Amino acid sequence: MGRTFDRIAPHYDRWIGRFMSRRFDLMAELLACSSEEVILDLGGGTGLFSRRIVDRCKAVHLLDESPLMIEQVPAGKILSRLGNATETGYPGRFFDAVVLSDVYHHIREQDLLLSEIARILKPGGRLLVNEVDLDRALGRVVAGMENLFFAEVYPTGFQAFSDLLEQRGFALLEKARDLWSFIGLWQFR
Ligand SMILES: C[S@@+](CC[C@H](N)C(=O)[O-])C[C@H]1O[C@@H](n2cnc3c(N)ncnc32)[C@H](O)[C@@H]1O
Repeated sequence: MGRTFDRIAPHYDRWIGRFMSRRFDLMAELLACSSEEVILDLGGGTGLFSRRIVDRCKAVHLLDESPLMIEQVPAGKILSRLGNATETGYPGRFFDAVVLSDVYHHIREQDLLLSEIARILKPGGRLLVNEVDLDRALGRVVAGMENLFFAEVYPTGFQAFSDLLEQRGFALLEKARDLWSFIGLWQFR
């Protein structure tokens, strides 16, 4: 997957930055991080979302497996690092919140991913997810196009994802859905 995003990294901000701008604003509002909190933008890519919150939080870490996506992260406050989201190497119970924006459906080992998130989140920590939604007809079209033209993807629907998180000890705090995607904020017990 890293190579796939390496290919589009130089163009990512121009296209996705525009398309996702309002969505990132809404996500930042939902997350509402404080100056005491340490956040991880997991699969954070070029840091489009991290840039939105970095001045409000104590620290923003970003981990991504694509070297060329990471190269686009602005130098300065965002603490970026190359790595695998299913095995991050961060200490346990380290983060107040983890952000997973447009990442879950790119990862085949979703069980490992959720276990890793549960490991590195503090009790009471939050998980903010932005995802294509298989429960919506347009979401199925978007996921199908990604599969066809971009890379193999492993999408989910909001309900199945929410049930899965609940089984793993997360409680839903907020959600926002549109015709093709969802944003959800969960709290870890
Ligand atoms: C669609 S981009 C989203 C980037 C960013 N989160 C955003 O919303 O702009 C998906 C990102 O997930 C990263 N990614 C995919 N699988 C990964 C994995 N196993 N570990 C770390 N990063 C991964 C890709 O390299 C890519 O940067």
